[in-house]
Amino acid sequence: MSTIEEDVRRGLTAHPKDIPPKWFYDDRGSSLFDEITRLPEYYPTRCERAILEARAPEISRRTNADTLVELGSGTSDKSRVLLDGMRDTGTLRRFVPFDVSKQTLHDAAAAIEREYAGIDVQPVVGDFTLDLESIPRGGRRLVAFLGGTIGNLLPDARSVFLRDVAAMLGRDDYFLLGTDLVKDVARLEAAYDDGQGVTAEFNKNVLNVINRELDADFVVHAFEHVAVFDAEREWIEMRLRSTRAQTVRVRALQLKVEFAAGEEMRTEVSAKFTRGRVERELRAAGMELVEWWTDADGDFALSLARRRTGKGVVPGKASYRERRRTGKGVVPGKASYRGNRPTGK
Ligand code: SAH
Ligand code: TRP
Repeated sequence: MSTIEEDVRRGLTAHPKDIPPKWFYDDRGSSLFDEITRLPEYYPTRCERAILEARAPEISRRTNADTLVELGSGTSDKSRVLLDGMRDTGTLRRFVPFDVSKQTLHDAAAAIEREYAGIDVQPVVGDFTLDLESIPRGGRRLVAFLGGTIGNLLPDARSVFLRDVAAMLGRDDYFLLGTDLVKDVARLEAAYDDGQGVTAEFNKNVLNVINRELDADFVVHAFEHVAVFDAEREWIEMRLRSTRAQTVRVRALQLKVEFAAGEEMRTEVSAKFTRGRVERELRAAGMELVEWWTDADGDFALSLARRRTGKGVVPGKASYRERRRTGKGVVPGKASYRGNRPTGK
């Protein structure tokens, strides 16, 4: 798996420069993200919660799942809606939250264990682009990937990821996917550039992380937050723009980096979807869409999918071992995941 040294060296010497978003989430990054989910402009969290609240009983009956696996679970806030549904239908046995951010994961797991007496909570620290094979098997599993996090993977990484998910699904398992939808550009851009500047803080915080981890001297206030919708690629792109010509030293890498006035570097994408795109991408990965739900305004979607069986479907084969062996993630320098790396890896 790539280290911050490798990622930052590659990104800052590339043209144009970029910083991989997996380094956003130190403690401050995680708490800023939490704040983002409560901003008036940031509609996805509220929309997804509303869909979950309306559909949890149906999801629970339909899947008959006894295990909820949640990828990129974070604080597991919305998981509770699904857990409640599964408890009400009497099937709930086990919860497997999976996240790269160890502390957040363990805090969330402990809280769920207290709130849901008698269920088996098995947190797994890992990177969902590399470590899906460490998820415990058995039972009937509902694998949830919420928050539109799939949109933070670039297209190549996304298709590899979806194949990996298909490969982990057994006959009785389901995949529940949250995706933000294409909509009015002004609303999309406001969601990633709020009036209070929280998202700007979140974006710039990655420079603090690099300063601290790699003994660099980024002058954080000499960069500004940019969030633009790329209509052709249908994604929001977050960037940091250098407000003046400046030189940055990254001492741990013995690297000197020049920025021109106005130069921009990409920090993250957040892809927006249509039903057609979700359906095609699931299909290409060996899954089929079985339900599609949106909120009343059609801003956000939840898709329920399962492994496609039948003629001509060749089950995908995950190649995590190769990816781990080469230490390169899904697409070198392009895999758009984030979070702190699991310790001891
Ligand atoms: N599911 C929550 C949190 C979304 S934020 C919600 O919907 O609100 C994205 C979460 O994914 C964070 O907790 C982050 O630590 C985690 N994450 C990001 N990249 C990851 C990766 N490559 N592997 C595992 N977890 C990752
Ligand atoms: N995956 C979510 C999204 O793309 C959450 C998120 C990731 C986010 N990075 C962000 C939200 C940066 C705001 C700003 O919307």
